[in-house]
Amino acid sequence: TEPGRSLVYPTPTYVLYRTLAAAQPADVIEIPYADDYSLPISELATAGGAVTFIASPNSPSAHAVPIQDLRKLASQLTGVLVVDEAYVDFADETALPLVQELENVIIVRTLSKGYSLAGLRLGFGIANPKLLSGLFKVKDSYNVDAIACLVGAAAMRDQVYKNECVAKVKASRAKLALDLKQLGFQVWDSQTNFLLVQPPQSNAEAIYLELKERGILVRYFNQPGLDDKLRITVGTDEQNQTLIEALLHCLMLCDK
Ligand SMILES: Cc1ncc(COP(=O)(O)O)c(C=O)c1O
Repeated sequence: TEPGRSLVYPTPTYVLYRTLAAAQPADVIEIPYADDYSLPISELATAGGAVTFIASPNSPSAHAVPIQDLRKLASQLTGVLVVDEAYVDFADETALPLVQELENVIIVRTLSKGYSLAGLRLGFGIANPKLLSGLFKVKDSYNVDAIACLVGAAAMRDQVYKNECVAKVKASRAKLALDLKQLGFQVWDSQTNFLLVQPPQSNAEAIYLELKERGILVRYFNQPGLDDKLRITVGTDEQNQTLIEALLHCLMLCDK
């Protein structure tokens, strides 16, 4: 970022934004989300970032930011708005129309999630040519490797297969959410392939450790606002059933 101008993003969000900014190094301004995860539009705009990052759908909250909020934010910013749509395939809405309406919006996506191709290490950005030409000026002279391009293009052409995979995850997500609610968990609405949940006794760390003992890994965040919650990735129906059975035991053990 330009000297004196920062990278701005709402928190909690994808933890790598902070790490990658520190590696530049770039100054960071973090603006907390409200408890209901509504976007703090005026605070983000006032922060005056050279670049403002919004993950939508977001991690670990699993919520998506409504396109009208992103539009409002982008039109108030003097810098660039990056909308990170890593999880968009699991969501109801995309912010894609914004790149045609506004010159300062870039949407970034990855093939790691909806396309199940995390090992390919391929992602892409969508923006108007003027914004992209600025990025080309600073782009490494070496390109994405040819095999990744071919595999990525083939995967994107096969929308039927991708949509089938996404539909399976969404169906399993709905069932898992229901099963967790029946165990007394609070479950946030999810537009992603994971669920943010709060155990009935809020003893997230104890449950995380107990599940780990049993070879089941869920994500525990040791930070204020999240340390009473867990992020659980949606597995196959069989894996989810194993998790629910393990949780039944954990709840009994950890509630003692
Ligand atoms: C919000 C968000 N953006 C981007 C990524 C990066 O995905 P990848 O590096 O696999 O393309 C992730 C991965 O966890 C993510 O959660």
